[in-house]
Amino acid sequence: MNEGFETLAIHAGQEADPHTGAVVPPIYAVSTYKQDGVGGLRAGYEYSRSANPTRTALEECLAAVEGGARGLAFASGLAAEDTLLRTVCAPGDHVLIPDDAYGGTFRLFAKVLERWGVSYEPVSIGDVDAVRAAVRPETKVIWVETPTNPLLGIADIAGLASVAHDAGALLAVDNTFASPYLQQPIGLGADVVIHSTTKYAGGHSDVVGGALVAASAELGERLAYHQNAMGAVAGPFDAWLTLRGLKTLAVRMERHCDNAERVVELLASHPKVTQVLYPGLPEHPGHEVAAKQMRRFGGMVSFRVAGGEQAAVEVCNQAKLFTLGESLGGVESLIEHPGRMTHASAAGSPLEVPADLVRLSVGIETADDLLADLSRALG
Ligand SMILES: Cc1ncc(COP(=O)(O)O)c(C=O)c1O
Repeated sequence: MNEGFETLAIHAGQEADPHTGAVVPPIYAVSTYKQDGVGGLRAGYEYSRSANPTRTALEECLAAVEGGARGLAFASGLAAEDTLLRTVCAPGDHVLIPDDAYGGTFRLFAKVLERWGVSYEPVSIGDVDAVRAAVRPETKVIWVETPTNPLLGIADIAGLASVAHDAGALLAVDNTFASPYLQQPIGLGADVVIHSTTKYAGGHSDVVGGALVAASAELGERLAYHQNAMGAVAGPFDAWLTLRGLKTLAVRMERHCDNAERVVELLASHPKVTQVLYPGLPEHPGHEVAAKQMRRFGGMVSFRVAGGEQAAVEVCNQAKLFTLGESLGGVESLIEHPGRMTHASAAGSPLEVPADLVRLSVGIETADDLLADLSRALG
């Protein structure tokens, strides 16, 4: 299909219902399907762990908006990650991971996959040469987030794709922070894209979900086999909510970016802020790469507060319109202290985050109200 992003997000995988003409795919709350004689499946559906029509609509839409061959929807982002890693890795394999990544992703490697015999090594993924130097013969996957959570680091997707492919490894890109509207890693050479659809894809803080989009049909087929074999699928209602979220992703992301730019402007000139981390800032070390591979710079902003941990915690506690809470990517603005909240599981590891760091998920409320709240919280 040659349609634009917005058209795909609204229509891909979503023909009007053939029986009723309903323009939105129904929630197929069903576990099994009547067969016309043994093995006589009416539309390919036999059992909803293997496939469900609402989930199929979401999976086709995800593949279309990411420009991949096959999309798969899971019960959470971490379920998607686990399924991917246990599909493409075997005990004895090695994975390079960012030295700045979502704490739950780090925990999956450190506490689950390592026991299963897959080793990992944190590396500075913003430095293509450092990644190339860290590759070993047994490296199966180079795993990146870009931008990273929570330090907003940037990885050069095209550069890392060639490092991975030279080494016979896969490049997996967690595209949660950017969303497919701002960045499409498969077009830059990634083999597979991961999403916590809980975030921008769903967009309304009302559903937990995950996705994988494979660049090739062959990898898609292997992942689909494991999705069914491991069983961590998205339920039909969750799939429907995510599908509804995707329809407005483009307009939401534009407003997230507009508001984030205003917030960055305020923070950059505030005397209590020692550093603003946002790839849209020309002084950000990944700015040039981000400008090349992203449409805009996103709605996530982190900053460091003068006065250390206690001062950062105090800013989080004082904010009102910015709701104190984990997660990100919803229409409502959120504030959090990564060291004590989302990234507490990385404490004492190479992925530990600075204690004076505050992370914002800038929502789509009236920008002036957000600025007033932040100014007040900073004191
Ligand atoms: C970048 C990133 N990847 C993956 C995940 C995990 O997703 P989920 O919470 O849906 O399991 C998160 C969750 O915060 C995340 O921020």
